[in-house]
Amino acid sequence: MSGFSARTDFPRAWNALARALAERRERGLPLVDLTESNPTRVGLPAPEPALLATPEAFTYAPEPQGLLSAREAVAGYLAARGAPVSPEHLILSASTSEAYAWLFKLLCEPGDNVLVPAPSYPLFEYLTRLESVEIRPYRLPRAHGFGLDVEAVAEARDARSRAVLVVNPGNPTGHYLHEGELAALATLCADARLALISDEVFSDFAWAPEPDRVPTVAGRALPMPTFALSGLSKVAGLPGLKLGWTHVGGPPAVRDEALARLELVADTFLSVGTSVQQALPALLAHAPRFQAALLQRVKDNRQRLLAARPAQALWDVVHAHGGWSAVLRIPREPGEEATCLALLEAGVLVQPGYFYDFTGGAFLVLSLLPPPAAFEAALGVLVRVLEG
Ligand SMILES: Cc1ncc(COP(=O)(O)O)c(C=O)c1O
Repeated sequence: MSGFSARTDFPRAWNALARALAERRERGLPLVDLTESNPTRVGLPAPEPALLATPEAFTYAPEPQGLLSAREAVAGYLAARGAPVSPEHLILSASTSEAYAWLFKLLCEPGDNVLVPAPSYPLFEYLTRLESVEIRPYRLPRAHGFGLDVEAVAEARDARSRAVLVVNPGNPTGHYLHEGELAALATLCADARLALISDEVFSDFAWAPEPDRVPTVAGRALPMPTFALSGLSKVAGLPGLKLGWTHVGGPPAVRDEALARLELVADTFLSVGTSVQQALPALLAHAPRFQAALLQRVKDNRQRLLAARPAQALWDVVHAHGGWSAVLRIPREPGEEATCLALLEAGVLVQPGYFYDFTGGAFLVLSLLPPPAAFEAALGVLVRVLEG
């Protein structure tokens, strides 16, 4: 008996990779970090710091849903993506992570569950558990390019399922939701009384036009409560400013009830700083400059990766359509952890697939954000180690 709650009793033991990394850092040995996903550390354009010094920066304007001027800026951002929405249906939070926590409070009793994609972003396990909510993974089939298979969602569901989480495009799999998949998902959600939570933080980072791609579920006439999430972390490359947004949609009566309840949750915390809200129109105006530079970086690094792969290699770059990462399929022997350790020994850090709950093979995940020279140098090592 520790006197602490069971839901904060997360496993904290270090795995072999974390131990080897700490040891390498302690010895001061050089390392190219191909897990770097912090957009503020890879030489991409940042806005002028003066943007945050708004004339009213030190006033306190407690507005549970967020300042109207900030919500209007988000509505403008969504309208430019083909989603005309009312600022009344938007709610700001201190990140999309916080928005998830609010949505789990809104939708779930303790012990209820939400359906989450696998492989995917590992934070869901923590975000749900901290709200006493369970997760039931639905597989994104590899045969389907790690895209959504609505039958897998239906099979994962049980009587206590309250919502389906969709990451569009997937992180790290980079597969977008398509119109046909959304239509099938909407039918399932309506029949099974499930809400839809759509994480669209990477939506702006498509590598090429793709017919039928769903950029956002905001502004759609969908038959279930629908929550579209995004924020400054990825859209403008500014995770340190702590501002995310949720568009609430669905049948009007349900939507309005959800908004009223979320407003109360938000009022309890009032967690978004006033100055970042005041600066939001200018920060979103900067986003296209950041996004253009990021997209060029990611596309160039992916090209470098594809070009570095020897024609007869036993490993492959998994096909994808967008996002900030690349997934490699590698031989099952020696497998993920041994390969990551061998790469670390040679001075390159990548993530093993199990970190994202990949199954059915061995995978590595690497960030496409690092500056070209570092990325190129790491590729030489990667190819040498993978070719044995
Ligand atoms: C798919 C996905 N959703 C949400 C987040 C978290 O974003 P935020 O900083 O807004 O909490 C991340 C961060 O990496 C992510 O990959």
